[in-house]
Amino acid sequence: MDLESAVNAEDAVGLENAAHPAEVAARLGVPVEEVERVHELAGDLPSAPLPAKADAPAILDRLQVPADDAAEIMAGWPDADSPLWTPELRWLLDRTIALVRADLGGSGWLPPGPELPRERGLAWRHLYVYAYLALVDVVMEYHRDHGISESVSWATLADLGRNLGVDRRMNGEGWPVMQAWLTLHARGGLYELGRLQHQRGSVEIGLHIPDAGPLTPETVDASLDEARAFFPRHFPDEAYTVFSCGSWLLDPQLLEYLPASSNIVKFQQRFELEAYEEPEGIDADVEVRRFVFRNLTTPLDQLPRDTVLRRAVIDHLNAGRHWFWRRGTFPI
Ligand SMILES: CC(C)(COP(=O)(O)OP(=O)(O)OC[C@H]1O[C@@H](n2cnc3c(N)ncnc32)[C@H](O)[C@@H]1OP(=O)(O)O)[C@@H](O)C(=O)NCCC(=O)NCCS
Repeated sequence: MDLESAVNAEDAVGLENAAHPAEVAARLGVPVEEVERVHELAGDLPSAPLPAKADAPAILDRLQVPADDAAEIMAGWPDADSPLWTPELRWLLDRTIALVRADLGGSGWLPPGPELPRERGLAWRHLYVYAYLALVDVVMEYHRDHGISESVSWATLADLGRNLGVDRRMNGEGWPVMQAWLTLHARGGLYELGRLQHQRGSVEIGLHIPDAGPLTPETVDASLDEARAFFPRHFPDEAYTVFSCGSWLLDPQLLEYLPASSNIVKFQQRFELEAYEEPEGIDADVEVRRFVFRNLTTPLDQLPRDTVLRRAVIDHLNAGRHWFWRRGTFPI
């Protein structure tokens, strides 16, 4: 669907006309540059259909989508006659799918579109979830072409359910980051192998740690071993030499607070840290709050102090100090 037919025919003007994206942006409640970006990246490239609505409950189940979210997703389904879906939302859904699909096989950070005012309704709230659902078939085919087993595919793609659960715990504060994060999965850029997620890169396999229970050294070892076999087998043209990680978990200041027996400490010890460089667009104090409290707004003195890490984070920030996002590597 092009932008012209997305708005009603009487006031349709080409996107070349600056007034038009501004109007679409106003209706979507987002900055005009974001609409222009989607239009430029997606152009007329092919989209992909959503799964049949009748198949959706089973797919949501495989993607481990929590019941509350699954109910909302079904209720907001973009049926052709759904009054929840305005022409602009339908345009954005269609072009977002095309935008992500165009980068199938890519492994860089890719925001799929503007952050939407999600309180406006179910279509607004879950637009990027519907885009993800449309891409499941596309990425499964990409996985099959690379000989990847269905069990790895579903384990990887089920991060959707995990992130919807986290977002609910965060009262919606988590989603702006997650909508871009999940395009990695939808493009075949990232694989969940046991305890860790592994992101393809140039020579680095980027490690990510999902919120999925303790990070024991044994589960980490097993996941690294799995990756050592997985990438040469399924991506023989890619030559990986190191595992890398960029995370709050690698901030050495944590060693001031955590005991030597801590899994985070043992995880850190695997890496050789790179010299500190301020990461673009990441405020580590905010990220630590995201991962340790799942809350970005409650005042520090009202946050729970029930674990050694939580006490450390609060005391550190109260002392006027900051956390750092550090990067490290170790050879494969
Ligand atoms: C990474 C993670 C699995 C480590 O948990 P773990 O294996 O329990 O870690 P440790 O053994 O080092 O824990 C040491 C202490 O800190 C606590 N702790 C660790 N991670 C915590 C977290 N995210 N929130 C609150 N407390 C945490 C533990 O409960 C323990 O405290 P206690 O002895 O008072 O019970 C956990 O922090 C997590 O799930 N984080 C979310 C995902 C994430 O941060 N990914 C990286 C994104 S860049």
